[in-house]
Amino acid sequence: MSSSPKVFVAGATGLLGGQIVRALLDRGASVRALVRPGAGEEKKRALTELRAGGLEVAEGDITDPAERLAEAIGDATTVISAVQGGPDVVVDGQVNLARAAEKAGARRFIPSDFAFDLTKLDDGDNFMIDWRRQAAAALAGSGLDVVSVLNGAFYEVMTGFMGLIDWEQGTLSHWGDPDQPLDLTSVPDTAAYTAAVALDPAATGTLRFAGEVMSMRQFHDAVQRGSGRTLRLRHLGSADDLRAEIARRAAQTDNPFEYVALQYQWCMVTGKAKFDRLDNARYPQVTPQPLVDFVRAGATAS
Ligand SMILES: NC(=O)c1ccc[n+]([C@@H]2O[C@H](COP(=O)([O-])OP(=O)(O)OC[C@H]3O[C@@H](n4cnc5c(N)ncnc54)[C@H](OP(=O)(O)O)[C@@H]3O)[C@@H](O)[C@H]2O)c1
Repeated sequence: MSSSPKVFVAGATGLLGGQIVRALLDRGASVRALVRPGAGEEKKRALTELRAGGLEVAEGDITDPAERLAEAIGDATTVISAVQGGPDVVVDGQVNLARAAEKAGARRFIPSDFAFDLTKLDDGDNFMIDWRRQAAAALAGSGLDVVSVLNGAFYEVMTGFMGLIDWEQGTLSHWGDPDQPLDLTSVPDTAAYTAAVALDPAATGTLRFAGEVMSMRQFHDAVQRGSGRTLRLRHLGSADDLRAEIARRAAQTDNPFEYVALQYQWCMVTGKAKFDRLDNARYPQVTPQPLVDFVRAGATAS
């Protein structure tokens, strides 16, 4: 039996949430995860393995009535949200979860921020970040100690979803100044830092972590070295050209998800959402993986 305070995790069937649960269990924490009744069989199977490691599971949804959610939270003292979704989940759902956490007697709430420095952005820069900023404004009035964990961009997203690398064409495309520093962290390292924060009773406010701080030119070099492939670095235009491209696409569609990857890139390549300082040194037990090793491991696995 672990003697550490219990941590409650919402979003445990997700990419980041599952890793946060794993990192907490690895550190000997007692963990309870909220799992939606409709979660698929594959996701439930993945949790079975974690259950063998001591994970408790409560069924529920963060939009459930706060009284019911408070029962699920039980005696947990810290609630971590790693949910993803629209404003019904990220704003209303997280506010509801925080209300339930307060009812249950929890002390701290770590919201599903996990991004670059959203405190430096303005409304309209990125609509998904706007929802997190709205949630933060609403949570500021709660009696909980809200601790925000920021990690820059996931390595997994920079080498995948963002659409920068075209392995068939042999190109790595980017907007803006190739020497602008960017904050980047892998999903497992973000989870390790989140677990460290959750288990650190003195952690407070906004904490910023990065596995690497590197320019697009250095990113290009690391991806080439890790993959053993030569990629032509393609400059797509300036940061202002990117802003114009986002406006052009926004005028053509009602679905902002079609250009959200460009909004994320704009926040990064302008330097607007760049961390001014890092809190890595607070948790020397976390040794983040260099990007070149991450790419090499992926290239070896495929
Ligand atoms: N910095 C970066 O580069 C980066 C990149 C990606 C994500 N992120 C951030 O990381 C966080 C987690 O994202 P992710 O990619 O791990 O998300 P994900 O894989 O889509 O997982 C989302 C999780 O939220 C759960 N969920 C959604 N709605 C819920 C509800 N109403 N009640 C309870 N659970 C609910 C999902 O449950 P089901 O399994 O039942 O659907 C799932 O467990 C988000 O804040 C996201 O913005 C950051």
